[in-house]
Amino acid sequence: MNNNNSTQEILHHYTDADEASRLRAGWFQLEHARTQELILRHLPSAPATIVDAGGGAGAYACWLAGRGYKVHLIDPVPKHVEQARAASARQSGHPLASAEVGDARQLAHADASADAVLMLGPLYHLVEREDRLSALREAYRVLRPGSLVWAAGISRFASLFDSLAHGFFADPVFAPILARDLEDGQHRNPTSNPIYFTDAFFHRPGELSRELLAAGFQVVEMAAIEGPGWLACDFDRLWSDPAQRERLLAAVRKVEHEPSVLGVSSHVMAIGRKR
Ligand SMILES: C[S@@+](CC[C@H](N)C(=O)[O-])C[C@H]1O[C@@H](n2cnc3c(N)ncnc32)[C@H](O)[C@@H]1O
Repeated sequence: MNNNNSTQEILHHYTDADEASRLRAGWFQLEHARTQELILRHLPSAPATIVDAGGGAGAYACWLAGRGYKVHLIDPVPKHVEQARAASARQSGHPLASAEVGDARQLAHADASADAVLMLGPLYHLVEREDRLSALREAYRVLRPGSLVWAAGISRFASLFDSLAHGFFADPVFAPILARDLEDGQHRNPTSNPIYFTDAFFHRPGELSRELLAAGFQVVEMAAIEGPGWLACDFDRLWSDPAQRERLLAAVRKVEHEPSVLGVSSHVMAIGRKR
């Protein structure tokens, strides 16, 4: 698939799917909380400059701007950039430093100008390894030596677990999509149903860490974002009970680095340091 086709697929998908509200629903709340936790685990203190490449509607960028960071968001979907600008305008006193249409493979930022890069989306949307490496090399270029990239991947096995836990394993339309996911990680959705996502690449955890290494990074942490928590059949009940939410988060933390469990997570976070 060429890049133009991929970009068209992405634009089409996000016309229907609402990124601005996604992280407030169901198990995405676990993704949100755990992603924030994994970012704060290593982030230098504010003020520092952050590039959020593939920042979507600004969920993490605006949160970090609110904590005193100078955050530049880029995303190829104009709707997302508009949503991020609107969210930024709502947090008076802590706006984003910038929000622009752009591509993680070609950042406008100067060499060694960022203290952190978030790449929470581009690596699963870029279906070709060379494109993913281009994005990671751009992150490497704009980072100051010693600073970090947070790179999220979708697990190779996410659609198997998702379909089993959330009731669409038997859908004959989904069967060939799942078969190819398991075969080579190339996710293709020929339907117009946005719940089956868009064209994407699903990593084995080891593939994700090897891509960071190939781009020059030292891998400092590989962590399951949701671990098995996203598969809880009573997720909403657990999450709305403060004590059960804490138990769930504690259980996810307990297995976050367990190699045999990494691929059960919907998303895996690879954190890499520029040498
Ligand atoms: C599922 S959203 C995630 C948004 C946000 N980072 C988050 O974690 O909630 C994936 C994002 O990656 C963006 N994206 C896709 N391809 C990209 C590329 N080549 N460069 C930068 N962003 C890209 C999409 O437009 C979308 O906003």
